[in-house]
Amino acid sequence: MAVSKIGIIGAGTMGSGIAIASSARGIAVTLYDVTESQLAKAQGEAATFFGRAVDKGRMSAEEAEAAQGRIAVTGALPDLAESDLLIEAVFEDFDLKARTFESLSPIARSDALIATNTSCLKVSDLAQHVAAPERFLGLHYFSPAQINPLVEVVRGTATSEATVAAALEFCQGTGKKPLLCKDNFGFAVNRFFCPYTNEASRCVDDGLGTPAQIDRVAQEALGVAAGPFFVQNIIKPRINLHAVRNLKPLGAFYAPADYLTRAGEAEEAFDLGSDPGPDAQRDRPIAERLLGATFLPVLEELDEEVAGPADIDMGAEVALRFGRQPCELMDSLGRVEVERLVRPLAERYGAALPKSLERVGSLRS
Ligand SMILES: NC(=O)c1ccc[n+]([C@@H]2O[C@H](COP(=O)([O-])OP(=O)(O)OC[C@H]3O[C@@H](n4cnc5c(N)ncnc54)[C@H](O)[C@@H]3O)[C@@H](O)[C@H]2O)c1
Repeated sequence: MAVSKIGIIGAGTMGSGIAIASSARGIAVTLYDVTESQLAKAQGEAATFFGRAVDKGRMSAEEAEAAQGRIAVTGALPDLAESDLLIEAVFEDFDLKARTFESLSPIARSDALIATNTSCLKVSDLAQHVAAPERFLGLHYFSPAQINPLVEVVRGTATSEATVAAALEFCQGTGKKPLLCKDNFGFAVNRFFCPYTNEASRCVDDGLGTPAQIDRVAQEALGVAAGPFFVQNIIKPRINLHAVRNLKPLGAFYAPADYLTRAGEAEEAFDLGSDPGPDAQRDRPIAERLLGATFLPVLEELDEEVAGPADIDMGAEVALRFGRQPCELMDSLGRVEVERLVRPLAERYGAALPKSLERVGSLRS
């Protein structure tokens, strides 16, 4: 089914971003929220976004006006009844989402697709609250959704092939880069992004360096545009702590570091401190820990077939701006070196060495 009309439930950070991204590409959007001020705010954000696009020459004034005009807002759920696709973006709370799907199912068209933008909940668990689970899936946008091109298309256990195909087509048609993945903790990208940021905090816990130094080492080792602490200060340590805690069922390696826990629970930004400057002896242990903590979960998700190597690398590049993508980097380092980086972490946290280690060297070929 070709999607031309969508309904979005929840007009917060993600709902408004998804509305802007979709209407900019010709999709008619109806944005619903229980809080009127959120609807007004979302419309204001769209006006600012399209106004800037005109100022920067990316859109004509007519195109901007038309895009703005394609976003309707409402406080009445039945106004979403004609949508081809309904995207839920309410607070990250299982019961609230479950109730939302239970209210949506009776009003949704019988052939409509329903998606959740959940970051941390299992799509297959939420599917139990949808009337037609075969037409339900995860569409995990990355913030800011109006700019970040990545969308993880998460296939639940009941999601049909036709639903996946329509969702991929919708993402591509709205200028997004879809990453098809399995419904596992952290999906494809947070599965390694969270441990990488968590290991940065463990390096502080273990006295290996200051956050500013670790950020610089990460830029050198992984070619990231900004280091893990700088990035976490943008997404907020509290939010990242929540995402890291979500991965805890995967084993002790994923448990949150003390430094991250303190900053997250205090709702404080990380104090970056000062960087003592490059020093190979001081920097090497940090680089090795950051690389090992990125490679171990990537290899595990390859074992679990959450996503393929090319897609994982695409996610790292597109959503996280990794200049060196994990699978390509592992291939260039070779199996022996990757095992040297991964083994100490696997042993420290009692994790098995991933079978995919054997494929390092030809992951991307
Ligand atoms: N913020 C991010 O970086 C990010 C990234 C990816 C995914 N997500 C996920 O997207 C979802 C939304 O996150 P957010 O950051 O936009 O949250 P937010 O707090 O900015 O917005 C949530 C919105 O939901 C509305 N809402 C609450 N109950 C509602 C109901 N019953 N019906 C309709 N609207 C209701 C609120 O009024 C609010 O406007 C969450 O599941 C979150 O995990 C967030």
